[in-house]
Amino acid sequence: MDIDLVDPDRYANTGIPHDQLQWLRGHDPVHRHPGEPDFWAVTRYDDVVHVSRHPEIFSSHRRLSLFPEPTEEQLVMQRMMMLNQDPPEHTRKRSIVGKGFTPRTIGRLEEHIREICRGLIDEVAGRGEADFVHDVSAPLPLYVICELIGAPVEDREKIFDWSNRLIGEDDPDLRSTEEEEGAAAAELYAYANELAERRRQEPRDDIVTTLLRPHDGEELTVDEFDLFMMLLVVAGNETTRNAASGGMLAFFEHPDQWRRLVADRRNGGDLARTAADEIVRWVCPVNLFKRTATRDTELGGRRIHEGDKVVVFYASANRDEDVFPDPYDFDIGRDPNPHIGFGGGGPHFCLGSHLARLELRVLFETLAERLPDIALAGEARRQRSNFINGIKEMPVRFSG
Ligand code: HEM
Repeated sequence: MDIDLVDPDRYANTGIPHDQLQWLRGHDPVHRHPGEPDFWAVTRYDDVVHVSRHPEIFSSHRRLSLFPEPTEEQLVMQRMMMLNQDPPEHTRKRSIVGKGFTPRTIGRLEEHIREICRGLIDEVAGRGEADFVHDVSAPLPLYVICELIGAPVEDREKIFDWSNRLIGEDDPDLRSTEEEEGAAAAELYAYANELAERRRQEPRDDIVTTLLRPHDGEELTVDEFDLFMMLLVVAGNETTRNAASGGMLAFFEHPDQWRRLVADRRNGGDLARTAADEIVRWVCPVNLFKRTATRDTELGGRRIHEGDKVVVFYASANRDEDVFPDPYDFDIGRDPNPHIGFGGGGPHFCLGSHLARLELRVLFETLAERLPDIALAGEARRQRSNFINGIKEMPVRFSG
């Protein structure tokens, strides 16, 4: 088998290389992969979970950028974000920000999310055609995050723009220059500062106020708060956008499942709930994450040395035939569905998983009700990235 899990062009042309990942699970589940630097590719479910749950052996400290390695300057910034921290530093921060993401806080957003979905669909319904990414799946998570942090409607556009510029991409269509990225970061930083100031003066019953309040004697510093806002905008946007686009594409490729969802909505059913998880398993918007071994250890029968890069492939774990019956079937009623699209259950498990599930459920409920005859009207163009399983454009048509 010709194994190359890095080349972004391959991802742009054919998506996640499931044929290679399947071969690796069967023949070489912890594979020494050449690269700059070389790394261990971990493809089986149990091994991905093991790595995720042992941060003392598999550190997140240098993880964010995958290939090439980040510069020292980028690392200084990245290290301050919780995604790239290890316990106990990470534990302290997570316990503070976790207070803002309880199922109760998130559950209260359901009606707002439904209104946002209806509004986005109303805008395109009369036209009979749309670009699903541009018109539906990109604005949805962004508008939801604005709602979450209490940003006024007129600020949506600029936050959207910052978030797009901040995501350092391999894709020439999406890439911004270092200067543009730096400017977006500075503007978002200043915006977060102002937001914090306003909430300190006028506390509200919202997430920003919760994050600024001391909890058990601990509180976020100004820098920590601003960086968290930045992480929120980046982590919450691209992932959900691509889950929504990839989910829609999966329905186009499996029309029986779309008909099943539409019929279920007509009967007042609840199938969109399991569909949301199946979409995350199937699409796996975050393909992989990197860790660094803190000491010599053993994984899947291979000897890992201190300092080695260890890359977990969630997309592969989510098709592991030892865990999922018929893993290559897209089945929106799959239950149980122990997928690890939100992470392998370790300390960094996705903070936004409740929110993402809610957004996907409400979006697909609304689409099945309002645009039941939605169809693909051209080519879905994939993002050039080995990290994010993304779609850049997807023309669709419907009778509205
Ligand atoms: C972490 C996936 C949506 C905020 C993560 C991780 C993954 C992930 C794989 C890393 C887990 C680990 O290392 O163990 C996804 C997917 C999403 C999604 C597939 C959508 C379908 C969101 C949303 C938000 C969010 C909507 C926020 C509003 C975060 C944050 C972290 C994170 C803050 C870092 C947590 C930490 O370091 O403790 N996500 N995510 N994510 N996610 Fe998500």
